[in-house]
Amino acid sequence: MNETLLSVRNLKVGYRVGKNSVDAVDGASFDVPRGSIVGLVGESGCGKTTVARALTRVMADNASITGGQMVFDGRDLVTLPEREMNALRWRDIAFIPQSAMNSLDPVYTVEYQLNEVLRRRGGLGRRQARARCEELFEMVGIEVGRLRDYPHQFSGGMRQRVAIALALALNPKLVIADEPVTALDVIVQRQILDQLRELQSMLGISVILVTHDISVVAYVCDRTVVMYAGRVAESGAMDATLTQPSHPYTMGLRNAFPDLQGAASGTLTPIEGAPPDLSDPPAGCRFAPRCPFALEICATTQPPLADISPDHAVACHRAGEAVVLRERAARVETWMTEPAMAEA
Ligand SMILES: Nc1ncnc2c1ncn2[C@@H]1O[C@H](COP(=O)(O)OP(=O)(O)OP(=O)(O)O)[C@@H](O)[C@H]1O
Ligand code: SF4
Ligand SMILES: [Mg+2]
Repeated sequence: MNETLLSVRNLKVGYRVGKNSVDAVDGASFDVPRGSIVGLVGESGCGKTTVARALTRVMADNASITGGQMVFDGRDLVTLPEREMNALRWRDIAFIPQSAMNSLDPVYTVEYQLNEVLRRRGGLGRRQARARCEELFEMVGIEVGRLRDYPHQFSGGMRQRVAIALALALNPKLVIADEPVTALDVIVQRQILDQLRELQSMLGISVILVTHDISVVAYVCDRTVVMYAGRVAESGAMDATLTQPSHPYTMGLRNAFPDLQGAASGTLTPIEGAPPDLSDPPAGCRFAPRCPFALEICATTQPPLADISPDHAVACHRAGEAVVLRERAARVETWMTEPAMAEA
């Protein structure tokens, strides 16, 4: 089950803005094994949606992939001719955009929209499509009688279920869900995540779950890819990355979010400041201006993403001191003081 389905290497994606370019993703590398849920997590603006959209090659007009590889099931999506890429969308890679309403057209019934995918893209006949619509609604726990409803007739959670049904319509190998539960309350979040997990495991598919909320990742994912300012800060299996993080940004994120399971959590400690402007990012480690453990080298030299164990990669000059830094990161006062350069 651990064979790699998707391998992203040194991916670069830029946006043209006037005469300038914003390097929104600047050398991202990570793997998605078959049959696993990978959480792509980081604060707003760190490049999660840009990565997700690059994987489908359905991007903003001013966006372009400027380097790297995205090897999916043996084929590099970066260089795949558009015709072949188009054939992969929905059938092999399904995308649930950042708001469920974005994947649903308000003027058509849900059945009509499912049919469009099943018949036009999947080549199913009318009866087959009808049967598949019913099957999909049963899978996501919505009464079949509601197939003829319009998107606005569903609650937010149900719309998200419909969006999941739409994504699963043609049995894809990979589903990319961009912030699938962000707008929902915690109870509905849990229901949707539980269902996503159940379907993922039943169908044996892989999922990339994009979220800014590390507790969502902790709740449902097998693996984590933590992004900061267009780069991967840390990635690997859940235990390595979230239970025992080795990057100060991951340590900070863990302190900043409540537990989705409702377990009593201590004080939430935000990471002071904001991610850098990507049109003019810092020269060295992009987290340095906010990092309580920054050294002089951090301001000048970009730390490479390096394996610190077979299934755990970290981009930090101090990854070798993770045990000590974790202890310090657990103290609120660590994050309240101004980051001091050259601190021992
Ligand atoms: N069409 C665009 N033109 C120019 N810059 C863009 C465009 N879309 C995104 N960006 C910039 O690229 C960077 C990454 O944006 P992206 O939407 O990928 O972040 P994100 O991690 O998905 O954030 P969020 O959590 O808010 O959805 C941000 O600095 C953003 O301002
Ligand atoms: S210790 Fe340095 S390299 Fe590591 S996250 Fe902090 S600033 Fe970046
Ligand atoms: Mg986004």
